[in-house]
Amino acid sequence: MHELNDDFRSLAKPALYAELELSLRGLLAGEPNLIACAANMSSLLYWSLPDLNWVGFYLLDSASGDLLVGPFHGKPACVRIPLDKGVCGTSASQRRTLVVGDVHAFPGHIACDSASNSEVVVPIVLADGRLMGVLDLDSPLLDRFDEEDARGLERLVAVFVAAITDMKLPRADGR
Ligand code: SME
Repeated sequence: MHELNDDFRSLAKPALYAELELSLRGLLAGEPNLIACAANMSSLLYWSLPDLNWVGFYLLDSASGDLLVGPFHGKPACVRIPLDKGVCGTSASQRRTLVVGDVHAFPGHIACDSASNSEVVVPIVLADGRLMGVLDLDSPLLDRFDEEDARGLERLVAVFVAAITDMKLPRADGR
């Protein structure tokens, strides 16, 4: 079983994301199954990053073109989000990470958990350019996420994409 490191929560963000990257690589190593990897990644992030109330995946449903809720940690969430609706749909359709300091000020924000006040959404794009979905993190704090979180989470999403597509990814820390 993978041991969670309780010390993670006290680290400064650069060290925290570097440790999380190593942990995630270990957790996903040798397992390309999308659901298995997404489930364990949600759990790792939920239990390692402070001040979160929801972490999970919305995956593109090719039949409908909507984002469908995937593996997550937190309260039950909206099942289906049309592309370009809410923070998730906007991030997916624009293929860029969105950091939202106050979700109540974001036009079209979709409230799944009334505890959420800030949010970061990272698009998941495969090497061939196909959109797979998004990774979504919510916090009860205002302004919980910043550019360091955005870059750190993008790096973790790259590890996730490499794992599920069985790709080798160079390590950021050179180790
Ligand atoms: N707030 C998101 C919806 C998903 S939940 O936060 C889990 C949005 O506006 O897209």
